[in-house]
Amino acid sequence: MAIDPNSLLLRALRGEPVPRPPVWFMRQAGRYMAEYRAIREKVSFLELCHDPDLCCEVTLQPLRRFGFDAGIIFSDILLPLEAMGARLIFGKGHGPQFPEPIRDRAAIDALKAIDPWKDLPSPLRAIQLTAAAADVPILGFAGAPFTLACYLVEGAGSKEWVTTKRLMWDDPVAFGRLLDKLADMVAAHLQAQVDAGAAAVQVFDTWAGALSAEDFQRWALPYARKALSQVKGAPTLYFTRDAGPFLPWLKDSGADAVGLDWRVDMAMARAALGETPVQGNLDPIALHAPAEVIREKVHSVIRAAGPRGHVFNLGHGIVPSTPMAGVDAAIAAVKEWSWTS
Ligand code: CP3
Repeated sequence: MAIDPNSLLLRALRGEPVPRPPVWFMRQAGRYMAEYRAIREKVSFLELCHDPDLCCEVTLQPLRRFGFDAGIIFSDILLPLEAMGARLIFGKGHGPQFPEPIRDRAAIDALKAIDPWKDLPSPLRAIQLTAAAADVPILGFAGAPFTLACYLVEGAGSKEWVTTKRLMWDDPVAFGRLLDKLADMVAAHLQAQVDAGAAAVQVFDTWAGALSAEDFQRWALPYARKALSQVKGAPTLYFTRDAGPFLPWLKDSGADAVGLDWRVDMAMARAALGETPVQGNLDPIALHAPAEVIREKVHSVIRAAGPRGHVFNLGHGIVPSTPMAGVDAAIAAVKEWSWTS
């Protein structure tokens, strides 16, 4: 289907009044669904990401099963780093790893700029297929430069990101060059997704909340802005985790809307962000609660966010232990809401 400019998602992202907020969940396709696990029994995660037909199928699974108001294309923020020349592995039982981490100027200079259709066609082809098959808008996405640098420099996930912060302080010029390169890649990757049919795009700055307020403003925000400001033709979202203390600066990302994690008080966020549309922010673990508790929590998020410019979402991705019944209960609670009655 062609992109519907009057979909709930696009109306909410423009800050127009809507009868109820649109709802989609980060990581709505994934291991909590039996249909997804059945596909993963046959292919590895990276094989799945590089197969546009399977990406399309996995993106459609939660849309069919739950009736979300938007889909997010199945892919991963780390794939473009592979396209830039960094070897990426997803082993069994551990998260993503870069066995040859990027820690000096030579390694940074060796990262290639990407030509999206040539170097990373699968998510683009998957967006084309999924946008044609789905009756709701499909979002594209990318990691933010700082969060991508975290994985590249550290070589794996981390809580403290010590190696990344050391490079940031030991050689700020090199770290800045890495972030600049990543921002250009992110911009090209996002624009190609919009051109392929993504109705909106989200930048995940998952680890920006690991920074001090000063370093957030120096190392995360400007590079996210550099990438976001180059995207034309679709609304943009900027999501950070643990970034509640940075609320006053989030709209300087240049994104059309700001994604909030579950620790942020929605009413305080509204006060700090003014008219900027927001997305969030139910605690993802709340989907394990009894249906009546879920309903109350969903309604209190909606009430605090108000009738304009709110996209209902979790405050971070669905976790694998999430019961399908909890997802059903949350979506039903959003869909029964009415701002007009
Ligand atoms: O949201 C969606 O449904 C779209 C698909 C999507 C995935 N990853 C699929 C995935 C998106 C938007 C991402 C983003 C992503 N990937 C982020 C930023 C968002 C966030 O969650 O903070 C990050 C940091 C990554 C990197 C990444 N990919 C990690 C750390 C892991 C391992 C996590 C884990 O739970 O094991 C992945 C793997 C991954 N990406 C899975 C999925 C569904 C699980 C893979 C599997 O099937 O084994």
